Amino acid sequence: MGVRRRDRPGLPLVSDLELRSRRVFLRADLNVPLRDGRIADPTRIHASQETLAYLRERGARVVLASHLGRPCGSVVPELSLTPIAESLGIPLLPDSVGPEVERAVDALRDGDAVLLENLRFHPEEEANHPDFAARLARLGDVYANDAFGTCHRAHASTTGIVAHSKQAVAGFLLDREVSTLARLRDTPERPYVCILGGAKVSDKLSVLEALVRKADLVIVGGAMAYTFLLAQGEKVGRSLVETDLVPAAAALMQSGTEFLLPSDHVVADSPGDPGSARTLERIPARAVALDIGPRTRAEIETRLTSAASVFWNGPLGLFETPPFDAGTRAVAQGLARSSAYTVVAGGDSLAAVASAGLGKRIDHCSTGGGASLEFVGGRPLPGLVALEARA
Ligand code: 3PG
Repeated sequence: MGVRRRDRPGLPLVSDLELRSRRVFLRADLNVPLRDGRIADPTRIHASQETLAYLRERGARVVLASHLGRPCGSVVPELSLTPIAESLGIPLLPDSVGPEVERAVDALRDGDAVLLENLRFHPEEEANHPDFAARLARLGDVYANDAFGTCHRAHASTTGIVAHSKQAVAGFLLDREVSTLARLRDTPERPYVCILGGAKVSDKLSVLEALVRKADLVIVGGAMAYTFLLAQGEKVGRSLVETDLVPAAAALMQSGTEFLLPSDHVVADSPGDPGSARTLERIPARAVALDIGPRTRAEIETRLTSAASVFWNGPLGLFETPPFDAGTRAVAQGLARSSAYTVVAGGDSLAAVASAGLGKRIDHCSTGGGASLEFVGGRPLPGLVALEARA
């Protein structure tokens, strides 16, 4: 592996440093979905390999760290990083701080790597407690952040640690995400289309306001769409809505940016009853809408044909339950066919792209969900701000 090109002046990189015999605390985002204790999608693990391999090849002693899920500050055995350590083929330490961890780190030799146990087993991680940040920092001579997907969190291992570390740099994954997504944030080619799905408007409201100002067309799908349809006076049956956010949705649609909402729906008697699925233009009072219908899929496809850049985050239907995954899959196909510059972010959107074998036909598949959304919307990411401040 040769010397790296600096894609983005301002963000120091692991390749800027002499690494031999130095302990590198490498914060990665190995927060992968698990099903029955097994890794359901290893994308983030694969994406983290480049920096890890580079450090080891150059003789660094790597202390790899991540969170997994939301254990809320207690030890939750199901959220141990054991399957991730097995997948990476490196030893897992029993904790992320403490004398046993320090002894194991002191015993590392050049090119070795260990993985710390789930950082979020300690409440101090999410609280960004300075003592915890200092204890983590002591495990490395250098701090390297490659956890793009977690940079929107101001936690001890993403922000607090930087002030306690002698040197702080970015890994290759973080650098690539930032330089690629900056193109959409700063100079999107127009028409610029944002496709936003997922369950809740409340999760995305503030970033939606920023994105709406930047985009030429906002396509809303997923359960979120029903709050917007209600704001337009449509009947939405028993579909998921956030009634308190109806005024906010109405205000967004009056901002001057064009919106495209579902015009037909796959509805069912309940989310757990896929057998009752049918396609309708109007949602009956006792039904729940769970996916965009074929006419909406075709409308989206047409708009993708004339787009110059597209950002997609969030599923357009109840993706985990067929047949309510069809809309999300159709949008993945539409993006793959589009000649626009395409960026896909977020677990379900990426899963739709990956399961259809379309990954290579998307310009950038981001490892960040919330982080990509916030970055593209123009919000400063605390993890990035901390690194930049040190640079
Ligand atoms: C993600 O999956 O978006 C990141 O790993 C951050 O996880 P969090 O939303 O639990 O903070």
